[in-house]
Amino acid sequence: MSSSLMSNYARLPVTFVKGEGAWLWDEQGTRYLDAISGIAVCSLGHAHPKVTAAICEQAHQLLHTSNLYGIKHQHTLADTLTHLAGMETAFFCNSGAEANEAALKIARLYGHEQGYSSPKIIVTEHSFHGRTLATLTASGNLKIQHGFAPLMPGFLRVPYNNIQDIQQLAADNPDIVAILVEPVTGEGGVIVPDSTYLQELRALCDQHRWLLMLDEVQTGIGRTGQWFAFQHSGILPDVMTLAKGLGNGFPIGACLANGTAAYLFKPGQHGSTFGGNPLACRAALAVIETITQDNLLQRVRDLETQFTLGFQEQLVGIEGVLDCRIKGLMMGIELAWPCGQLTSTALTKQILINVTAERVIRLLPPLIINDAQANDIITLVSHLIRDYFNSAAAGQRG
Ligand SMILES: Cc1ncc(COP(=O)(O)O)c(C=O)c1O
Repeated sequence: MSSSLMSNYARLPVTFVKGEGAWLWDEQGTRYLDAISGIAVCSLGHAHPKVTAAICEQAHQLLHTSNLYGIKHQHTLADTLTHLAGMETAFFCNSGAEANEAALKIARLYGHEQGYSSPKIIVTEHSFHGRTLATLTASGNLKIQHGFAPLMPGFLRVPYNNIQDIQQLAADNPDIVAILVEPVTGEGGVIVPDSTYLQELRALCDQHRWLLMLDEVQTGIGRTGQWFAFQHSGILPDVMTLAKGLGNGFPIGACLANGTAAYLFKPGQHGSTFGGNPLACRAALAVIETITQDNLLQRVRDLETQFTLGFQEQLVGIEGVLDCRIKGLMMGIELAWPCGQLTSTALTKQILINVTAERVIRLLPPLIINDAQANDIITLVSHLIRDYFNSAAAGQRG
């Protein structure tokens, strides 16, 4: 690989040159089953004809004009997303980290409006919100913060899926203005919180007049079987961030807001040169149209059942499997030992998986996979896990 690239990624030794649906092909023409979708991005699979057509058509018309001028498709996308979410306004950017930056700035503006010169935002352990300085500070992962001090001030951290500690923080810190949380942690190991967690957070935020800000960068756009994961809980956030699946591989992020939060930004207070350009918005509109027309939210819920039953059957009796957590098509199989090497073992079996939080096999297949592909993922991953523990046991015996 080229030595003129910075060495910030630990890449696997494969380069893909073509994709179609849930399949990817490498330079040698070997075909792989994609169970990670470019980390929850290509939810409609690779080279989806409707997204490709929308991008090509728009590229022939107009790529970019900047936010100095009106952008018709940006308005349409804002209307569409706010309608789906039951929220009021949208801001567009290019990535998840940028979407969260917008949310954090909204929280600070909200605090300053109430007279707090140093407003605080509650964040959680095991969270991941991005790699900019503010979002890596917000993230509950010491590894990604290491070497980047001084970090941003103004964050208070609590355990994930825990309400009591927040109540304690509220008693000690009058200048808290918001909570930022993932409805299901992605990078943190696919932790699915109690079904009442978001409702309890909503109640706390209402009680203290804090903004409830949900990072749906990974969970949003159908990944959990609803358009947005908060819709499983029957609550509404004040702020929600999106990216990843929104453009199916075309970079786009969004920050949606409700109530007071929806109208805090005034001209000049936030922006992005590329954010919400005609091309990105057309891609996102094609994604939303396809998920709707193909009834993919129901399909994700059916696949959740198929994966749950399949893994229950195939993983039974494997001692080193501690947990199998599934919400829609976000899956985390927690093993007793670190298992990062399984990503390269999986490559040799022509399947793409991911390991996060050191011991959690993470699967994020495209929402368009068929039953046979789902069964192949269950079988291949279960075999990988069995082989892993068998060879480790053999190593110990030897
Ligand atoms: C929940 C969540 N938030 C934010 C981000 C950051 O998104 P991006 O890499 O597009 O900046 C990610 C990326 O993995 C994520 O999973």
